[in-house]
Amino acid sequence: MPNKTNINTNTLPNHVAIIMDGNGRWAKQQSKIRVFGHKVGVTAVRDTVEGAAEIGLKYLTLYAFSSENWARPKSEINALMELLVNTITKETETLMNNNIRLTAIGNLDDLPKKCLNNLNVAIEKTSQNNKMTLVLALSYSSKKEIVQAIQQIAEKVKDGNLNIDDINEESVRNHLYTHNIPDPELLIRTSGELRISNFLMWQIAYSELYFTKILWPDFRRENLYEALIDFQSRERRFGKTSEQIEKENA
Ligand code: IPE
Ligand code: IPE
Ligand code: MG
Repeated sequence: MPNKTNINTNTLPNHVAIIMDGNGRWAKQQSKIRVFGHKVGVTAVRDTVEGAAEIGLKYLTLYAFSSENWARPKSEINALMELLVNTITKETETLMNNNIRLTAIGNLDDLPKKCLNNLNVAIEKTSQNNKMTLVLALSYSSKKEIVQAIQQIAEKVKDGNLNIDDINEESVRNHLYTHNIPDPELLIRTSGELRISNFLMWQIAYSELYFTKILWPDFRRENLYEALIDFQSRERRFGKTSEQIEKENA
């Protein structure tokens, strides 16, 4: 098992994003219903969040529910929302104990009232914590995020508050849900699926991608550390040559 002593804490990514996938398949392997996998997945969330804060990550984003997930059977959606309401409330203490601030991205107005209320209470309660920021992606769609950014920018141009020539990467970024969050340097997806599923498409333009076959309910902080060690073995060139990077680092 990877050990956190193998991680260079001076070169940690600031921000790791995780597509938590495989709850349904995990439950199926145990001959249980899908919702059981989601419930056990909460243990993986707790351990990963605590492990991320412990090692010193500044931002951790977890993809918990996509806009596309609204197309799942009603019974699964209801169970997931119920789980979300209960977990957010129950785990606020874990966040307080670990000095973690909670925030959320996505089309949050889609969430049931109770869910949104509990979420806002937890966000408010943890707002002064400063060890790590936990970002929950809920009812999230990267394409919708970009569309609403374009709408807001177009509105400003229409009202004469922004020149077309002043639209640039910075101004687009400023209209995303993540305007106050740095881009993730590392994106992890569990369960062996090799796709992005409409997650943070602008923000991961230069992220390192890490795929593991582990199903989300089995994921623990050691698996996060394994991904961090892999990340630290990579050379991030940003279009330059290897020789240039070596010179810069010398
Ligand atoms: C991820 O697990 C959790 C959510 C998308 C809410 P899945 O529910 O997608 O599990 P699989 O992919 O069907 O195994
Ligand atoms: C992506 O997982 C969304 C979350 C992890 C919340 P899905 O299981 O919904 O993605 P697809 O359908 O396999 O692409
Ligand atoms: Mg899935």
